[in-house]
Amino acid sequence: MNHKLFLILLIFLGSINIKAQDNSLEEIHLMPWPQQMKANESDFKITEEFIVFIHGEENEYGRISKAAVRFIRYMTDKTGVFVINGFPNPKGIDASAASLHIYFDNEVEVAMGIDESYNLQVTDNVIEIRAKTDVGAMHGLSSLLQLIEIKNGSYAFAGVEINDEPRFVWRGLMMDVARHFMPIDVVKRNIDAMALVKLNVFHWHLSDDQGFRVETKTLPELYQKASDGLYYTKSDVKEIVKYANDRGIRVVPEFDVPGHGTAFLTAFPELGSKKDMEYSVERNSGIFDPTLDPTNEKTYEFLDALFKEVAPLFNDVYFHIGGDENEGKHWDENIDIQQFMKENELKDNHELQTYFNIRLEKILAKYGKSLMGWEEIMTANMPKTALIHSWRGVNEGMQPGESLVKAVKNGYQTILSNGYYIDLLLSVEDHYLVDPMPDVELTEVEAKRILGGEATMWAELVTPLTVDSRIWPRTAAIAERFWSAQEVRDIDHMYDRLSTISQFLELMGIQHLKSKEYILRNIANYQDTHGLRSLTYISEPFKIYSRNAGGTEYKTYSPFTLFADACTADAKSVRDFRQLVDNYIKNPNESLKKELDDHLKTWEGISDQLKIIEPDAPLVSRLIPYAERVGEIAAIIAKVLNSNVISSEELKQLKSLVEKKEDPTVNLDVELAVANDIMRLAEYLAKN
Ligand code: ACM
Repeated sequence: MNHKLFLILLIFLGSINIKAQDNSLEEIHLMPWPQQMKANESDFKITEEFIVFIHGEENEYGRISKAAVRFIRYMTDKTGVFVINGFPNPKGIDASAASLHIYFDNEVEVAMGIDESYNLQVTDNVIEIRAKTDVGAMHGLSSLLQLIEIKNGSYAFAGVEINDEPRFVWRGLMMDVARHFMPIDVVKRNIDAMALVKLNVFHWHLSDDQGFRVETKTLPELYQKASDGLYYTKSDVKEIVKYANDRGIRVVPEFDVPGHGTAFLTAFPELGSKKDMEYSVERNSGIFDPTLDPTNEKTYEFLDALFKEVAPLFNDVYFHIGGDENEGKHWDENIDIQQFMKENELKDNHELQTYFNIRLEKILAKYGKSLMGWEEIMTANMPKTALIHSWRGVNEGMQPGESLVKAVKNGYQTILSNGYYIDLLLSVEDHYLVDPMPDVELTEVEAKRILGGEATMWAELVTPLTVDSRIWPRTAAIAERFWSAQEVRDIDHMYDRLSTISQFLELMGIQHLKSKEYILRNIANYQDTHGLRSLTYISEPFKIYSRNAGGTEYKTYSPFTLFADACTADAKSVRDFRQLVDNYIKNPNESLKKELDDHLKTWEGISDQLKIIEPDAPLVSRLIPYAERVGEIAAIIAKVLNSNVISSEELKQLKSLVEKKEDPTVNLDVELAVANDIMRLAEYLAKN
């Protein structure tokens, strides 16, 4: 073969190879991962000619039309393509010219158990979404958006065929807006993000000890006395419910009773179980004693009036009454309550709470609602119509999911939140592998009672500024657990896709990346933030509530613009560094050594960068000792890496530096997240 022919053959083979690689499933970064997906050899190039056509009966500007408009905006924002037709079904254009056809059979009421399946096909010439319902079709659009990739220097949709449907019907995110109020813009952008990852229940925790957050005309004292002026008007609530409904998302409100009742009792102290107590809105975190009096008929008149007014604001059948963490102290102390229990043969506080819950269930039924509550409501006499929200685990002295199994065995429907407490600030891995389906023998009927799960964003330590960075991107991986097949559990594959979904979340308006920059600029007093940023990449906020031991270090009005608030779970450099250490231990070579050294040099330089800005940035001072410690650790490791010798003295010094804690009074509240991997590397170097 002459040289020229050989070269042509090589190029030809090479192009086949690239083509095959480009369309492999590894290149596709969808989350949640579909039930069935095949990559094909195509890709649909995004040009100004892109046209969307909807085929199906809907009201003009029904749900799917709005979704198509949003889709076109996201697509053009992502790609910078100036499309000629910015709206679906453009007038005067034949449907045969469409790039994207959306077919659906029915517009449906958004409710639990509706058909959410869709089929999506992307070929070189045309894209088709087919679904039974408009909600399914919207899921198809969420998938399609995530298929945007760069092919041969242009944006394109990756060629695939997808057949998809959810594994669980209940895929939720709970937002606590009582501890810190979240304005409607914050809620809306999180609903957009939920839609992107196919979550379908927004659980809105609207009352707690620290606030009551809804305007009520019949009981105005609630928002007037117990919200600090931070509440949703009824029209705000309707707007959110409509906004969510437009995206196929149900809204389940929660009014937490009889415990977590301080806000209620600040407005209506006469309904409290402790008489003559001066209740006031709680500013700390924890479990508190104020509890509604279940023996007082006025309590039921009050709740009836409240539910009558708020229930119609929500179109979902489920209504969450909380019911958690009632320790019953004020019940034990009240002789009238004790007398009531005797007369009604209620032998303990659980039975008293069940009496209360059954009364609530009847009130809610009048307003067309089904009761759900945290697992504590599951007592012997609780009607099986109640939906049990399983949440307790090892931190509460229980087996994870214990109540979930008990619920299904006892005939209740249930959802799981234990394992999905994103406010614990654990790594995404800790949540991703938790499955709502427990590893115990269940009958088919019992298994069916497990409806799904919810991630919970408790808001003691978050504000509108930081809440996105606590929810996302980890909740995208939890959404995958609720949607995708049980076998989808590969951690590396999940991480590969998580960084891509993180960028799409930003396209939805999520501020998880932006908020870090804002906080760091403020700390730096608008000077250079390079050093601070590098420090956030190896620091993670204290986990499992240890940031706020005792619940009093941070109050609802404390600043949440501190260094810890700029840091997140799964800090950016931690996994990179861990993999480098793994690889180096397996195969120590110069190239890996150089990569490790690059990290170490960055860390060594941080304290100098901070010292430059410190004179004009008082908030930086408290970080200097930490940055110096990081620098010392990095310097020792860098030296050892280059000399290949570490003395036992150096190893000891390193260990003591790594384990050293910062001054607790400065609220640094972060841990050096690369500490373990640094010690692994040091110990390896010591042995070799
Ligand atoms: C809860 O975390 N108290 C439901």
